[in-house]
Amino acid sequence: ELKENTIIIVLGASGDLAKKKTLPALFGLFRQSFLPRDVKIVGYARTKMDHAEFLKRGTSYLKNPNDDPELSKSIDDFKSVLSYVAGDYEDGSAFDNLNQHLEEIESHYQSKECNRIFYLALPPSVFIPVAKNLKEHCYVTKGGINRIIVEKPFGKDTESARELLGSLKKYWTEDETFRIDHYLGKEMVKNLLVLRFANVAMNAAWDKNSISNVQITFKEPFGTEGRGGYFDEFGIIRDILQNHLLQVLSVLAMERPVSFAAEDIRDEKVKLLRAIPPIERDDVLLGQYVSANGKPGYLDDDTVPRNSVCPTFAAATLWIHNPRWEGVPFILKAGKALNEAKVEVRIQFKDVTQGIFKDIARNELVIRIQPSEAVYLKLNAKTPGLYTRAMPTEMDLTYKRRFVDAQIPEAYEALILDALKGDHSNFVRHDELDVAWKIFTPILHWIDGLAGPRPRPVTYPYGSRGPKELDPFVSKYGFKRASEGYVWPVVSL
Ligand code: BG6
Repeated sequence: ELKENTIIIVLGASGDLAKKKTLPALFGLFRQSFLPRDVKIVGYARTKMDHAEFLKRGTSYLKNPNDDPELSKSIDDFKSVLSYVAGDYEDGSAFDNLNQHLEEIESHYQSKECNRIFYLALPPSVFIPVAKNLKEHCYVTKGGINRIIVEKPFGKDTESARELLGSLKKYWTEDETFRIDHYLGKEMVKNLLVLRFANVAMNAAWDKNSISNVQITFKEPFGTEGRGGYFDEFGIIRDILQNHLLQVLSVLAMERPVSFAAEDIRDEKVKLLRAIPPIERDDVLLGQYVSANGKPGYLDDDTVPRNSVCPTFAAATLWIHNPRWEGVPFILKAGKALNEAKVEVRIQFKDVTQGIFKDIARNELVIRIQPSEAVYLKLNAKTPGLYTRAMPTEMDLTYKRRFVDAQIPEAYEALILDALKGDHSNFVRHDELDVAWKIFTPILHWIDGLAGPRPRPVTYPYGSRGPKELDPFVSKYGFKRASEGYVWPVVSL
């Protein structure tokens, strides 16, 4: 673990990711004293700006609406560890300049050891030149640790991902590389290991004998407004399914790792992913939102090419060929511009054997990742009273109620802290990414028109539950909608 003599260098410091996620997460850790004692944070980007301007921009997402004096002091303290260097991404001498700045900071250290953590909040077009320049101009060799944190997109298909990863590997070892998938930093995703393996009762029902189907759902209530240019090149499958939802699936379905050690966990994830064949076209439903209720459609976004057939919604069913899961459909669904913001896993159990009960609701275990973390199990109980009738009810672990004072860390906070500790458990390994791409590449090529005519997505109105084709799609895989009238009583606290 890095406790001192550490500089965190944020490349792309004037971009959106840095401003919205990286710097606020660093601030969160700083405020709770989780960063190394003498930490310094150096921003680097092309934009020319002076120190004051960088402080202003770099902290623009740190809010203090009630003018809390303690928070305002923390923000000031945080500002005092920030500095900025402007420079090009392709130009080696600009990195010499950055290196000089880092050495100047390090000249004040007591000991010789210096650690540098490079966080690349950058567009993929400059990943490789930056990784190369950092290695050649900013890598510390005189004792100390160098690490690099990178984030998707890691290519667009198996081949381009291999090329990108291969180039990065020329400069940075696997051990030094931390590939972020921020879903792995979410509290509820991390909880999956505990829910599954610390509970005999859960674990016993976790297979094809008890489970009918699994859905992993991502819903966002806004469109691609302003980000259309980026999005159109990637689409919802590369943006959400191939990484975030597949990561959730792998932790949900893998066998028990030998230990909590990073390689033990990642070995199991890779083994699971290798048992999943590439997705079939028949197992895919694609959608694109159109304008409704005064909200613009995807194609109304000026940054989107006219007539684009890029999917903003996708449902894809994956099959796992191993003894535990053979025949159980895992349906991944994600969409922009839907009716709500919600990410959840819904495990639907099989029907009770007919005989004494007819038409009673199925058990469902729902793991709500966000918002408002919760785990609830829908189960049938006798309706209280002098007759015997089953009714659907629930056992409910809503975090806000059960853990009243708990502060749930931001995903990026958890992950940056892991990277500082050198713990790779919640980062994506090279071979893991490779199998993830293999599962998705054929349908992506089909969607991109590389294997014949491009499929046309069906439409759905902005703000709706998704395409009308979705209900029949999920019932095809055996999903049964809860009986009429059952609503999970959401507690508002
Ligand atoms: C990002 C996607 O990886 O995840 C975005 O590129 C998406 O399109 C975001 O909005 C969702 O993250 P979160 O943490 O808000 O669920």
